Amino acid sequence: MDKYDKVFELAKNRGFIWPSFEIYGGASGFYDYGPLGATLKRKIEDAWRKFYCVGEGFYEIEAPTIGVEAIFEASGHVGGFADPMTTCEKCKESFRADHIIKGQMEIPDGLSKQQMTDLIHKHNIKCPECGGALGDVYDFNLMFTTWIGPGQKKRGYLRPETAQGMFVDFPRLLRFYREKLPFGVTQIGKSYRNEISPRQGVIRLREFTQAEAEVFVNPEFKDKHPNFDAVKDLVLPLYDEPCQETGAEPKKMTVGEAVANGTIANQYLAYYVALTHQFLVSVGIDENRLRFRQHLKNERAHYATDCWDAEVLLDRFGWVEIVGIADRTNYDLTAHQNRSEVDLSVFLPYETPKKVMKTVVTPNMGVIGPRYKGKAGKIMAALKSMSQDELDKPEVKLDIDGEEIIIDSSLFEHKTVEVDVSGENIIPHVVEPSYGIDRTLYSVLEHAYDEDIADGEERVVMRFARGVAPITVAVLPLLSREPLTGKAQSIARDLKCAGFFVEYDESGTIGKRYRRNDEAGTPFCVTIDYDTIEKDDTVTIRDRDSMVQVRAPVKDLVPILGGLIMS
Ligand code: GAP
Repeated sequence: MDKYDKVFELAKNRGFIWPSFEIYGGASGFYDYGPLGATLKRKIEDAWRKFYCVGEGFYEIEAPTIGVEAIFEASGHVGGFADPMTTCEKCKESFRADHIIKGQMEIPDGLSKQQMTDLIHKHNIKCPECGGALGDVYDFNLMFTTWIGPGQKKRGYLRPETAQGMFVDFPRLLRFYREKLPFGVTQIGKSYRNEISPRQGVIRLREFTQAEAEVFVNPEFKDKHPNFDAVKDLVLPLYDEPCQETGAEPKKMTVGEAVANGTIANQYLAYYVALTHQFLVSVGIDENRLRFRQHLKNERAHYATDCWDAEVLLDRFGWVEIVGIADRTNYDLTAHQNRSEVDLSVFLPYETPKKVMKTVVTPNMGVIGPRYKGKAGKIMAALKSMSQDELDKPEVKLDIDGEEIIIDSSLFEHKTVEVDVSGENIIPHVVEPSYGIDRTLYSVLEHAYDEDIADGEERVVMRFARGVAPITVAVLPLLSREPLTGKAQSIARDLKCAGFFVEYDESGTIGKRYRRNDEAGTPFCVTIDYDTIEKDDTVTIRDRDSMVQVRAPVKDLVPILGGLIMS
């Protein structure tokens, strides 16, 4: 059993994660969160909200998970969100072409379909299921399609990312934020990708949860993040393009250095790389199994200029991306503006109006009048209704009473004058940290998983960060009998009222109950014994990691446990 098997076994047995639709044989790419898994997931999401909604001040919105066709045509997903696929000619099973080839030989990323087809045929790569011949490589679009309403008139798609919902709401969001940049918006919710034969367990899902923030900025200020100073000294492991090309280890450098020497494109991007590091470590990702990998030019999304993935080291899968942090430029807003014909620009007033030299073109009546006798009045009226840009051309075509008249620009007077300009319209750029909650959760499970010795016996212990552990405190009467049980239940009630996630457990020996809670990752066990009842109204608090037990008065439990969980 490798670590993935061990973690997954525990996840199934202790109620974290299990395959969906099990009684019907399951379907790859779909997993359920059980009682402890759903609680852990919610706590990770709440921790994310604390960083992004409370800390950054970005409001959360909730858009539909189904989008109309126009959204995904504009975003490029209809045309380009595809993986290369090959299908077995014998058993008709389909595979990701690049994965199948990588199983046989080393290939660079970004090979064309034709190159992959050639490799499959040249090296006679066979179907891993039945040994049949594999067909040519073709594009498979990863979006799930549906129909909106009865019949098949209106096509819709299950969203492949939450981001588009925030882009198409931009005009309303801009108004909400009083027409000022920068501002950020977040969304946590389900996304769907019809992954080709997902074989990586809980890592590659067909339905998964993303937590995304879209930060809309004036591109001129991408190098002036207001809180940059707060993160500039944080040291990050940066696996940049040169490291990858030369096979070197990731570079350790501060966020400030990374921006100053151009490793990360700008302060905004670097700030969210830093915040991602802080968030992931706070929910229990092991710092030593975390790095930030820069996308190589040939693997960047069609819209991104610079992109960094937070990658974690997993026992079976190696380095796996769990968060993508991208500078999406103004790609999405421009695409939606073009498709919807709704103005998605922002007017940015200058602090003081700018003096700008402008050419003013005025038709010269003294020249036009004598040349176009009888029509001069109509010509002048038509010219006056035209914009400066139209007039500032080598010639102007007019339709006067059905006759085409071409006026040469030499008949106009061109004067350069100084004018006041109060601001400009821009399409904001977007910097986007995009978190996969499911991959984060699995990584938290794997990094928390540990085996050691307790009371001379092997134990499995989930060393969750205290803030995200699904159960915060287990309340255990030493024996399953009165008056211990009554007292324990009353303590459990008080702790629940104080807001702790409490598990009351009286079944089995105390040793077994400690082991169960170690596997559930419960940071503290409170045990009620005869001293509690007969002597001094104190209980023991057992620390999951050190297994040290200390006595504490029942009346002080709430502040003591509260302090321990925050520490
Ligand atoms: N809006 C940008 C975006 O969606 P992405 O890199 O495609 O970027 C972001 O996805 C994160 O979503 C990934 O880092 C990963 O954690 C998660 N994710 C993407 N596809 C996934 C899948 N099939 N199963 C589980 N998580 C996935």
